[in-house]
Amino acid sequence: MSVHKEIKRITTNTIQEMKQKGEKITMLTAYDYSMATIVDEGGVDVILVGDSASNVMAGHETTLPITLDQMIYHAASVVRAVKHALVVVDLPFGSYQGNSKEALNSAIRIMKESGAHAVKLEGGAEVRESIERIITAGIPVMGHLGLTPQSIYKFGTYTVRAKEEAEAGRLKSDVLILQEAGCFAIVLEKIPAKLAAEVSNSLKIPTIGIGAGQQCDGQVLVINDMIGLTKGFKPRFLRQYLNLFEEINRAVQSYVKDVKSKSFPNEKEQY
Ligand code: KIV
Repeated sequence: MSVHKEIKRITTNTIQEMKQKGEKITMLTAYDYSMATIVDEGGVDVILVGDSASNVMAGHETTLPITLDQMIYHAASVVRAVKHALVVVDLPFGSYQGNSKEALNSAIRIMKESGAHAVKLEGGAEVRESIERIITAGIPVMGHLGLTPQSIYKFGTYTVRAKEEAEAGRLKSDVLILQEAGCFAIVLEKIPAKLAAEVSNSLKIPTIGIGAGQQCDGQVLVINDMIGLTKGFKPRFLRQYLNLFEEINRAVQSYVKDVKSKSFPNEKEQY
């Protein structure tokens, strides 16, 4: 039987056991109670309350504006729904980059006020001290390397990272630093599949890829993109399983038509 089915509640240990047994890890984002209920019942291993909420929930162009209070609100809504998955919450931009004490305080707020099980933060060597301090307080940390959207204004574009040797070399050194610092897993976003494979094979902890090829130990997608709620967003790495934008749009049009034509509500739909 797979580790995923044996275990009632997924923990960071389960995730690491999956890597050892060669069982792929599934991760999806969720930001609210209703969606988290569906995603959890669907059997996903990890639910990420991503700071992509800034884009898909609040309509911002980047992940930078979302605040710690807003992340806690989303995370607490998700935690209330989840019975099986491990819930990981992004530390938002500006809540951990200052110094390790600030990082620890932000992580503690997330854990205390939302009931989540772990935090995620972006970066390599530069956030090592913060990761160590958070883990010392008993809070599991997931790393995030490659395309790190909180640094979008440094990169200038959302294109594939680490194609050049120098950046690939930095990434290889950063994954080892994150593993040594105690991260239980690392997200690899938008890097060449060959590099992701090499890095995944070199680590004891699992990698979870988005646009990083099939050799990662697990995969993650933003739920709104995966079910086709995000209009016009279709990068190469995205497999879209539904087109909910079109389906919901059709339902709304039918509702408008029914109310205007006085066919809704009918005799049976009233008291
Ligand atoms: O915020 C997010 O949704 C993420 C995933 C893309 C990994 O960080």
